[in-house]
Amino acid sequence: MSAEVGVIGTGVMGSNLARNLARHLAARAGARVAVYDRDVERAQALAAEHPEADFLVASSPADLASKLSGPRVAILMVNAGAATDSAINDLVEVFEPGDIIVDGGNSLFTDTIARGETVRQAGIEFVGVGISGGEVGALEGPSMMVGGTESAWSRLRPILEPIAARAETGDGHAESSVGHVESSDGRAESSDGDGAPVDRAQVDPESCIAHVGTDGAGHFVKMIHNGIEYADMQLIAEAFALLRSRLGLTPSEVAEVFREWNRGELESYLIEITAEVLDHTDAATGQPFVDVIADSAGAKGTGGWTVKTGLDLGVPVATIAEAVSARSLSAASVLRSSGTALDGPSNATSADDEARTSADDEAPTSAPVDRDTVIETVRQALFTGKILAYVQGFHEIAAGAQEHGWNTDLGEVARIWRAGCIIRARFLDRITDAFEADPKLSSLLADSYFQDSLNAGQQALRDTVADAASAGVPIPALASALSYFDGIRTSRSSAALVQGQRDFFGSHTYARTDRSGTFHTLWSGDRSEVQL
Ligand code: 6PG
Repeated sequence: MSAEVGVIGTGVMGSNLARNLARHLAARAGARVAVYDRDVERAQALAAEHPEADFLVASSPADLASKLSGPRVAILMVNAGAATDSAINDLVEVFEPGDIIVDGGNSLFTDTIARGETVRQAGIEFVGVGISGGEVGALEGPSMMVGGTESAWSRLRPILEPIAARAETGDGHAESSVGHVESSDGRAESSDGDGAPVDRAQVDPESCIAHVGTDGAGHFVKMIHNGIEYADMQLIAEAFALLRSRLGLTPSEVAEVFREWNRGELESYLIEITAEVLDHTDAATGQPFVDVIADSAGAKGTGGWTVKTGLDLGVPVATIAEAVSARSLSAASVLRSSGTALDGPSNATSADDEARTSADDEAPTSAPVDRDTVIETVRQALFTGKILAYVQGFHEIAAGAQEHGWNTDLGEVARIWRAGCIIRARFLDRITDAFEADPKLSSLLADSYFQDSLNAGQQALRDTVADAASAGVPIPALASALSYFDGIRTSRSSAALVQGQRDFFGSHTYARTDRSGTFHTLWSGDRSEVQL
């Protein structure tokens, strides 16, 4: 018996995706999934652990090719970079024209474009699919961003669409996904948060998968997803630091605040899991878990790619860039050790700091604050900052799509991010609505909901940034969001002076406000102006 699809790489993501595929393919057509791993024993162990999946285990790329019905489809779930190249090379050796290689890893989109060009020389299709949702998403239903030709998408759609997350429509709520239960057959199912399985047949399902363009488009959109993810996480972390520092709330108390926020416009997976993390107690010490984690953040690179690509495209993505830099700063131990000699207000953001501050018996840094007012102000600041991070991300998608001729539908992108992925949020419905109302929307800023929300929240963002600056609490993402906001609404920016400076030292020329043309001032001569 042959398999309809193969999965290469049986790490956690690959295993879970393969199980998800097996479940849906078997239900639909009795079709099977073949799995292959360079570590063949690992693939065999997966098949032994999950007999219900009825995997066909391949012992080599050639064996995998022989087990797949044509035109063959193989999904790579291996590490981005050299491992992906090597797996592609192995498949090109044994696949035939018309077969499809799918890269489901977090590959750099320019690598995907280049790999596609190479693989197509053998007549083989290459499709880059951004897959978001982590381990649980891979098993229960990820959000998937597909980049490839129309013909490849037609072949892949019946295979991938059934395994994608489904967003509920109509009520404005993103599907919850922290809660999940194992059903009697070992399948993970969505839960309604109280442990009761949700019958997906009851809701109007919308599959969180879309064809977002050719070649590198899928990985490009996934990259931006991750850039927004970095910004969202950093903004939430800054809100936590502020609530702790300004109000002295414990992590568990902040968790309660976040749970409350999660019932409103900030409802999102990241707020939901943040409350879980903050409420967790370290078993070894009895301390809040967040206080025993080293404050040095890792990064696999996708946030940095978003920023570099934004710079290349000339798109300002300052809040995302600050989120990436904040991780770098957190890990810069030598730099930070020199910081102990620097002055400023005491800015307790952890239990250690709180103890040190009270031992030092320092004077309070500012006037007493009203708890409810601070919480509401920080909530509004967080929501406003989050909108601005999305504005930046969607601007970059639009610019990238234009640069590469992808014709990416931004409304579709928002639609497939409403469930399954890490940044899923109630708020995505608003973005979908905005693009549905005006498919040619130039920016989220041109939509009245986002304008109204920003106008309603800007004062809170301003107050929060000012308060944090006075208190010495670092809030780079919130501060950059505010500067981005003010930069956009400024009718006349300081860039005029920068143009003057450029012309002075480099004859870089400038335009004038009062007439068209290109001009240069003879700075080292008589300072008269010439038109070029
Ligand atoms: C997702 C995640 C996933 C992964 C990130 C983490 O959408 O499922 O974004 O891709 O968790 O790569 O990235 P960092 O290690 O850089 O935080």
